[in-house]
Amino acid sequence: MGLFNKNTKTLDSFQNAVETRRTIYSLEKEISISDKEVESIIEHAIKHVPSSFNSQSTRIVLLLNDKHDAFWDITKNELKKVMGDDRDFQPTSDKIDNFKHAYGTILYFEDTEVVEGLQQQMPSYAENFAIWSNQTNAMHQFAVWTALSTEGIGASLQHYNPLVDEATQEAFDIPKTWKLIAQMPFGNIREAAGEKEFQDVNARFLVRK
Ligand SMILES: Cc1cc2nc3c(=O)[nH]c(=O)nc-3n(C[C@H](O)[C@H](O)[C@H](O)COP(=O)(O)O)c2cc1C
Repeated sequence: MGLFNKNTKTLDSFQNAVETRRTIYSLEKEISISDKEVESIIEHAIKHVPSSFNSQSTRIVLLLNDKHDAFWDITKNELKKVMGDDRDFQPTSDKIDNFKHAYGTILYFEDTEVVEGLQQQMPSYAENFAIWSNQTNAMHQFAVWTALSTEGIGASLQHYNPLVDEATQEAFDIPKTWKLIAQMPFGNIREAAGEKEFQDVNARFLVRK
């Protein structure tokens, strides 16, 4: 027998958590759980989420307080550099201000040193290691996002990399080998997500027996 008894309640609560997680854009600059609890959710994911060949290549940085604000200032600044003055920057600026108006941001990285090490060790899998690295990172994102939602905390998933990579690395003293994959602003939910449209599950799932 495994660690857990076969228990419908466990399945129910897992599926409930999966269903509860949504993309929440409208967040508060407050949070109803402690920073320690957020840290513990992230630590749990880092420890238990699987990775290819158990390589544990995912890295996470939790930005709080002025560090969170600084990240979104960096993002706005980098976007302004590429968009220039000839385009209306206001909608972009508002969008970034909205992310800044969250409690904190979780940055997800992959350690390229680990991935390259695996590629050298097992050259026949070389191409796959980059793919698996992204996949394991996404699993961490999902685990943290879902766990936060069970605590009533909203979050969304953003991708301002690689535009912000260099400035982020410098601002938060992040090892050079860590490659930024995704950014997750989070906080109390100001406005719930709207209805979601679902495609026919039967068209996406086949059983052959
Ligand atoms: C791999 C992946 C990448 C995503 N990238 C972005 C993104 O860059 N910006 C964003 O606002 N939402 C992003 N999303 C959120 C999706 O748009 C969202 O999950 C989807 O519309 C379903 O809505 P839900 O999260 O409320 O269930 C991403 C989601 C996934 C799974």
